[in-house]
Amino acid sequence: MKSIVEANISNRTKVFVRGDLDVPIENGIIIDTTRLENMSDTITFILEKNGHPIIGGHMGRPGGVYKKNLSTKQLTSYFDKKYGGGNYELLENLRFNKGEEENTEEYAKDLADLADLYVNECFSTSHRNHASFIGITKYLPSYGGFRLQKEVTTLERIFKKPKRPLVVIIGGAKIKDKEPVVTNFIGIADYILLGGKVALDWHTEIPDNLMLPVDSAENSMDIGNNTMDKYTKIISQAKTILWAGPLGKYEEDKYFAGSKTIAQAIAKTTKDNNAFSVVGGGDTLACIEKAGVRDSISFISSGGSAMLKFLAEGTLIGLEALN
Ligand code: 3PG
Repeated sequence: MKSIVEANISNRTKVFVRGDLDVPIENGIIIDTTRLENMSDTITFILEKNGHPIIGGHMGRPGGVYKKNLSTKQLTSYFDKKYGGGNYELLENLRFNKGEEENTEEYAKDLADLADLYVNECFSTSHRNHASFIGITKYLPSYGGFRLQKEVTTLERIFKKPKRPLVVIIGGAKIKDKEPVVTNFIGIADYILLGGKVALDWHTEIPDNLMLPVDSAENSMDIGNNTMDKYTKIISQAKTILWAGPLGKYEEDKYFAGSKTIAQAIAKTTKDNNAFSVVGGGDTLACIEKAGVRDSISFISSGGSAMLKFLAEGTLIGLEALN
């Protein structure tokens, strides 16, 4: 992947930045700006080179039609405040056009016609075969943004030469998404700790480094105390930790104990054992926030499904398109 630093940006070069604009908005207020902040090094770099960023991205799943509540124009005041109106262009939600998700030649070309260069700065959707990730790269010199590169190198660090012991904690509900990740890590991790529905549904092989809960609580809605103790001990030895997926139905306080204990154990080990910890996915992020340990985690991936796919397969279609 070529880095944006290699791009030839000067006097008003138009740079299409495929941004991560899928942020939660309530009554016109952006609830969490993390994804927008993640783009700032790239946009600032383009502006400093006297380039002109053309920011395009999606919000939600409008299904190819205009929906006011999913308009990316709602982000105008955020971008104006940060970069100054007139210094950049913000496109309407790309998914308002069916050509985006269908990756049509015509739409990819329309997008490419807007700019001289292309930068992917949206790791979290780079697993989609969409025009603004795939088709457009056929027409423009294409580069990876700073945050995208950071996501890739950080996640690669986990499966290529991790500091050991490497402990991978996988929970959540979607066994279909998680199984390939667990299978990949069976040959890499020192310990894989399963929880949540994934653990209940796990029916394939159980090698020595794969741990299933030894007890449960609240009708299997959470892991039990013995499992918490066992998992906490393993985590406390770790030098590298990856966590994706809650250990129970954390949304309800009475089932949050397991996920909270694991979140706190990861935070403590990151500090006390100088471990490198990575957390990703919306629910897991909600757990570390609910447990009050967000600031103690070394790296928070912006991707949920994209992160899991990357961890299982080592690449994503949108990253390959940059090559
Ligand atoms: C995400 O929130 O993970 C990304 O924006 C991807 O969204 P999608 O699942 O609708 O493609």
